[in-house]
Amino acid sequence: LSRRGLLLGGGAAAGAGAALLIGADALVRAARPDATPEGEPAPHGRDVVPFHGPHQAGIHTPPQAHAKFVSVDLAKEVDAEGVRRLLVLLSDDAARLTQGEAALADSEPELALVPARLTVTFGFGRGLVERVAPDAVPSWLRPLPDFATDRLRSEWSGGDLLVQVCADDPVTVAHCARMLTKDVRAFGTVRWAQDGFRRARGSEAAGTTMRNLMGQVDGTVNLEPGTEDFDRLVWAGADAPAWLRGGTGVVVRRIAMDLEGWDRLDRPGREEAVGRRLSDGAPLTGEREHDEPDFAALTPLGFPRIAEYAHIRRARTENPDERIFRRAYNYDVPVAGTAGHDAGLLFVSYQADVERQFVPIQRRLDELDLLNEWVSPIGSAVFAVPPGCEEGGFVGEGLFG
Ligand code: HEM
Repeated sequence: LSRRGLLLGGGAAAGAGAALLIGADALVRAARPDATPEGEPAPHGRDVVPFHGPHQAGIHTPPQAHAKFVSVDLAKEVDAEGVRRLLVLLSDDAARLTQGEAALADSEPELALVPARLTVTFGFGRGLVERVAPDAVPSWLRPLPDFATDRLRSEWSGGDLLVQVCADDPVTVAHCARMLTKDVRAFGTVRWAQDGFRRARGSEAAGTTMRNLMGQVDGTVNLEPGTEDFDRLVWAGADAPAWLRGGTGVVVRRIAMDLEGWDRLDRPGREEAVGRRLSDGAPLTGEREHDEPDFAALTPLGFPRIAEYAHIRRARTENPDERIFRRAYNYDVPVAGTAGHDAGLLFVSYQADVERQFVPIQRRLDELDLLNEWVSPIGSAVFAVPPGCEEGGFVGEGLFG
């Protein structure tokens, strides 16, 4: 049986008491929903994001509606050769699935037919890099320093390998994550998995800034893919270990929101906490979302119009090198036996150097930020995200010299 073969038991074949052997490709072709009724636009489900290229997809890709972040602990006995085998397997399946093709040993190949802009992005924790190239660990690849506002729980923190799966369709995300988790089985175990969502594709015009579950427009001031600033601040350059150049660093923080407490705050209070209007995300000193905030403006009583403790004042930096690219998702899990929700933000940021770019911002927010009254980080993990690979290669190959 070739690895592309698929053993199908059950169904019609089982009626005849036989098992049926079908090539996965033939099965997939037969099931592909090619016909679109005349006059109707082609479904978004067919949209494909290239897997191969200088950078891994899923970072500069316009954010898809759904995401799953899976963190893996490698088994103790997995050595450098084992890591290599795992990465070859994962890259191979990710390359297929993202293009709308079944994984090698896909047990539900029909589910692979709707890529819906599926991307898979791999990140390496310190534990993985140390097993392969202990001399090439970037200095920032370690847990973040402790912050006073942290309420971190180990079940949402750390890990040796991150598998980030994003697509505009939640079934696609679930299937892809399941196939890749199967690949991992012989090499390690899932440490944590987190699901996130934004508005469904098509609900709003493409490019609309997302809203988080506190109702705020979130992501207005951000690095923009394709710009010089983005290239310089997100993609690792000459000062990174050679294997990481063209890659980046990712911080994944699970930040819980006290939505019940937030409900008790009036609208002006909510807007002051951030320094922006809830209706359209405009700064309290401006008219439109992308207006530049005027941090010097005063109220008639002489107080700063954007308060000293406002999130946007504290998060902003004078240092142009201290910026990050945010690509967050919402999470929301009803809590059984209560009338409440475990809800918040999967804060995800990419930056070439976590220590120099992310940590100073988080430090300032930790010292003073009114939002801290309603949000607390409960999970935290840092990974180095290797560059992309070309066809026939695998993500992370540079680690192996
Ligand atoms: C801006 C919400 C956590 C960094 C903003 C804005 C909102 C917001 C509504 C204004 C719109 C925008 O420019 O995006 C939140 C919420 C958080 C959170 C609800 C937690 C649940 C963080 C964290 C960091 C961060 C952990 C980094 C350590 C920033 C930055 C800006 C920003 C850099 C842009 C500031 C500027 O105008 O220059 N955030 N944020 N935020 N936030 Fe957060």
